[in-house]
Amino acid sequence: MYSKKLIDSIEKEFETLKSAGKFKVERELDGAQGAEVRIAGRQVLMFASNNYLGLANHPEIVKAGKEAIEQYGFGLSSVRFISGTETIHKILEKKLAEFLGVEDSILYSTNFMSNLGFFATITNETFGDSAPYLDAIYSDELNHASIIDAFKLCKKENVVKRIYSHGDVALLEKMLEEDKEKNYRFKIIVTDGVFSMEGYLAQLPELKKLAEKYEAMLFVDDAHAIGVLGKTGAGTPEHFNLHGQVDVLSGTFGKALGGAVGGYIAGKKKIIELLRQKSRTYLFSNSVPPSVVIASIKALDLLKEKRELLDKVRENSEYFRAGARKLGFKVLEGIHPIVPVMLGDAAKTQEISQKLLAKGLFVVGLWFPVVPEGAARLRFQISAAHTHEQIDQALEILSEVGKEMKII
Ligand SMILES: Cc1ncc(COP(=O)(O)O)c(C=O)c1O
Repeated sequence: MYSKKLIDSIEKEFETLKSAGKFKVERELDGAQGAEVRIAGRQVLMFASNNYLGLANHPEIVKAGKEAIEQYGFGLSSVRFISGTETIHKILEKKLAEFLGVEDSILYSTNFMSNLGFFATITNETFGDSAPYLDAIYSDELNHASIIDAFKLCKKENVVKRIYSHGDVALLEKMLEEDKEKNYRFKIIVTDGVFSMEGYLAQLPELKKLAEKYEAMLFVDDAHAIGVLGKTGAGTPEHFNLHGQVDVLSGTFGKALGGAVGGYIAGKKKIIELLRQKSRTYLFSNSVPPSVVIASIKALDLLKEKRELLDKVRENSEYFRAGARKLGFKVLEGIHPIVPVMLGDAAKTQEISQKLLAKGLFVVGLWFPVVPEGAARLRFQISAAHTHEQIDQALEILSEVGKEMKII
């Protein structure tokens, strides 16, 4: 029977995943996201979420969401271009564009969808010209899964993909130089602003120079940087004094800015209008619900009013980094609240993450194939919501377990 064959195949696949240590187990939280959460009836310290500013359960965000539900209802039961556009969508898009220093922005249900939508729209669009064409995309090898999957929606016959080794600007330049005479229609350099496994930042100034020199468009997915990096929290461009100078930005409201859902593309008005007209993941998918829109507007307002949240997450990140280093752990250099503690060995990383959780510290262990073989790590994520006491407690648990396992 067909379904039995499928079920047997699934079981076989699960066995393979389990024996390779790749079978994912989801930890169930009971209650709100925060500096501490409840797991299996116990209060534990949370160092595994993207809640960088602590807005996921901030009282003003919660209040804004509640009021929005009362005023606008729960959902809009429609896509944007049929009957799903509210004035508040336009307000958020305008506010976001101003915040990022660009002309316009467009909301998607998620950042995954916005990335899929952008690349498919740009590269598949003929602009009424029947002549054959080729676009070229230059992508960092460590770019997010949504960017990699976005390429799959671009027609093979119209797109050349060139993947450069992580951060290898020299290799990227070599590729662009080789392609100089190839007459590509559009060239797009695409990078994550912050790479989520290391917390490393893209070398935006160099990428920007190359984009200008070779007449390519620069696309930065700033999911982990919006609300985190830069003087006002506007992300990696602001951090590198390139505020408003990156051609196209994508990002999410699902991490620092309230942590619910909602993605975007931001940049030139004409590009945004093209996406509104043609992007299938925008056109044929429901509009972002009012509670999320209003709470996201609130998140942008809070970021402006409470710069101390940005200072706090930075200061906390430094405090944790220095503390973990002082204990004798190998910590990757960086300034981002993603703080990887390098252990190398996958089995050891699996064991330590379980032991830490048993003692009340939730942190994610990452190992091959998520990170390179031999580079297994604990990925701590720091939040403005953490107090120094909570960070001290986390360090104490880390120290205890590290000593017990003879890591330090
Ligand atoms: C760089 C990057 N891009 C896109 C996404 C997807 O964001 P969303 O959850 O809004 O789909 C993520 C989230 O993990 C990310 O880290």
